[in-house]
Amino acid sequence: MMETGKDLEKARKLLRNGDLVAIPTETVYGLAANALNPQAVTRIFEVKNRPSFDPLIVHIAGMDRLNELTTNVPDAALKLAEAFWPGPLTLLLPRKPVIPDLVTSGLDTVGIRVPDHALTLELLRDLDFPLAAPSANPFGYISPTRPSHVEDQLGTKIPYVLDGGHCDIGIESTIIGFENEEIVVFRMGGKSLEEIEDVVGKVQVRDHSASDPRAPGMLKSHYAPRTRLKLVDMEDLLDEHLLTERVAILSFRDSFPQIESERQFVLSETGDLSEAARRLFSGLRELDRHNPGLILAERVPDYGLGRAINDRLRRASAGSD
Ligand code: TXA
Ligand code: MG
Repeated sequence: MMETGKDLEKARKLLRNGDLVAIPTETVYGLAANALNPQAVTRIFEVKNRPSFDPLIVHIAGMDRLNELTTNVPDAALKLAEAFWPGPLTLLLPRKPVIPDLVTSGLDTVGIRVPDHALTLELLRDLDFPLAAPSANPFGYISPTRPSHVEDQLGTKIPYVLDGGHCDIGIESTIIGFENEEIVVFRMGGKSLEEIEDVVGKVQVRDHSASDPRAPGMLKSHYAPRTRLKLVDMEDLLDEHLLTERVAILSFRDSFPQIESERQFVLSETGDLSEAARRLFSGLRELDRHNPGLILAERVPDYGLGRAINDRLRRASAGSD
């Protein structure tokens, strides 16, 4: 049976033993294992039902541990790490052989980040290995932002959830790689494009392709509820025609008196994108639980964290028409 608690020593013991522990981060909960132990890493793929071509992010306690795992770190990467670690930014860097192939799906780069969560940083500081951790959800489903989300879905499969409360940011890390002289954003996330460009200048944003295994993390249908989801603008939301189906509504700031309250979820009444990001995944889970025929999700303003929110909604809608 799974337990949930704040016992760091218990978490460390399990991890040293090759077991999995769900850990809190500022973005989403991660499903962690010793990144240097191939058997432990294999368990992550099994428990998540994740295809082996989708590589994992490695979590470290601080920049001082970067040298053990990576080589030839570009200057721009160092600048970004200095500016934003600990924080919601993953850097794809040339890996050293100590990182098992399984972690990177055979790629020659490894995704690394320092998570900004006190409990997990304390956990990492006293381990002599880094933690590989994808989001702690079954592959393709919505990422967990509270311990109960992990319990609901992985409760029978892992022994322990380290309870760090609700995730502050609520959306996964921004992933950045370096190709020749280019800085490339592979996934929009908790660190906005504007903040990144303030530090390193103009970057490229790589568009998602549905099925290119060389562009992992870019699978189009992802972060999805079970219910069909459609991404729409406000004018469509107000269209009577759409309201005839048994719909649920995920809106940015407005609520809809003509729809029962349990079939709508407002991301931020004040129109605050950080609050919207923080509430996005629990909102989707809540609506999904009521089994509506369709979720209509409103596109949010496309700047700051809004870009990452729209990206997740777009991918959640990819499976349905
Ligand atoms: O905020 C986060 O990043 C959370 C927390 C737990 O740290 N983790 C997370 O992991 O979102 P995951 O596995 O759900 O998503 C990581 C994405 C994957 O889709 C993977 O394809 C991509 O990062 N990725 C990892 N290593 C990569 C690499 N070397 N090259 C390209 N993409 C990589
Ligand atoms: Mg994930």
